[in-house]
Amino acid sequence: MLARTLSLLLGAFMALSAVPAAAEDLGRMQAQFGNVIYQLYCVACHGQGGKGDGPAAAALATRPADLTTLANRNGGIFPVERVTAAIDGRVEVVGHINLAMPPWGRLFAHEFEAFPEGTILEALIARRIAHIVAFLQTLQEE
Ligand code: HEC
Repeated sequence: MLARTLSLLLGAFMALSAVPAAAEDLGRMQAQFGNVIYQLYCVACHGQGGKGDGPAAAALATRPADLTTLANRNGGIFPVERVTAAIDGRVEVVGHINLAMPPWGRLFAHEFEAFPEGTILEALIARRIAHIVAFLQTLQEE
């Protein structure tokens, strides 16, 4: 319920925020949205700082990934596409069967079920994941 209300609010705000904004403001705003989503859906496993030490982590067979070293583990470049696919989870990343991590794309699709299946729904899911990815980029350690 909270999530539903929140996503409607976010949707409304995003529609209003089509006003031109400086690129860095936009980036910061996206990361802020991403932070809200992260607090709702990710923090239990990945932890407040993204280290993979959330309160639910101990109960899992697979340790949640450390999300602060995504860039570091990829030669210093944040792997936007791979991370986007890992979060979405609906398309299997080659050689990477990920059963430990919920397929968020599918869950977000349920949340946006008021929208018709197709382009708009996919755009909403993609935008939400992009916001999360923007937030994860702010967590990267040198
Ligand atoms: C139920 C616990 C749980 C929740 C909730 C969860 N994750 Fe995960 N996540 C995992 C586990 C466990 C892994 C490691 C999977 C593996 O190693 O195959 C993982 C892996 C990942 C990866 C891949 C990292 C890498 O090194 O390639 C990303 C990115 C990620 N999670 C982001 C998120 C985001 C964003 C959210 C919230 C929308 C989230 N996770 C919510 C458990 C969780």
